[in-house]
Amino acid sequence: MSCRIVVLISGSGTNLQAIIDACKSVDYPGDVVGVIANKADAYGLTRAQLANIGNEALSHRDFESRELYDQALVKTIDNYQPDLIVLAGFMRILTPEFVQHYQGRLLNIHPSLLPKYQGLNTHQRAIDANDTEHGVSVHFVTEELDGGPVVLQAKVPVFDDDNAEDLAERVHEQEHRIYPLVVKWFCQKRLVMRNQQVLIDNAVLPATGYASED
Ligand code: GAR
Repeated sequence: MSCRIVVLISGSGTNLQAIIDACKSVDYPGDVVGVIANKADAYGLTRAQLANIGNEALSHRDFESRELYDQALVKTIDNYQPDLIVLAGFMRILTPEFVQHYQGRLLNIHPSLLPKYQGLNTHQRAIDANDTEHGVSVHFVTEELDGGPVVLQAKVPVFDDDNAEDLAERVHEQEHRIYPLVVKWFCQKRLVMRNQQVLIDNAVLPATGYASED
């Protein structure tokens, strides 16, 4: 049976699009069955509509606390009976209860080579630090913000005349390549999180994820 994927977004949803496109291939083992945004104007909702995927906005502004919002979010997500929850530019800090509910089936993409630059403004921070390389990480989500075990990273060079937009664009290209791949591995049941580590085909991955050069 195909893996049921729910994607959470806050904005443009280009990573969502990359996963929707990957799912169109006949041998892809998953389907996006629902898209949920915390902002009604998130363009990713339009992407979902164009692909005939169930979608809804659940605004955090309608709730009095983070806990109440996350409880409603769990209900909304679970209506889709997902096997996997994919955070794709979902710009919210999640409660421990939410994370525990989906433990081992919650993935995130973060635009840095974790553990470097957890949090926001990662591209500018890489430039300010004179880094010569930057990149993106896909990781399982744990209670520590941007701290869960990494599955896969992709690196990009940082050039002297780059600004944050140049770098974001270069990183985005890699995001669209690696996120559908990691989702595919999960759907193939090759990927497991155990004791804060990632296993692929029963082999424990190093802290920087699969096929790291370090
Ligand atoms: C992506 O670059 C993703 O790595 C980042 O938001 C962007 C969403 O783009 N996520 C985070 O910063 C999470 N902390 P998209 O809406 O075009 O997929």
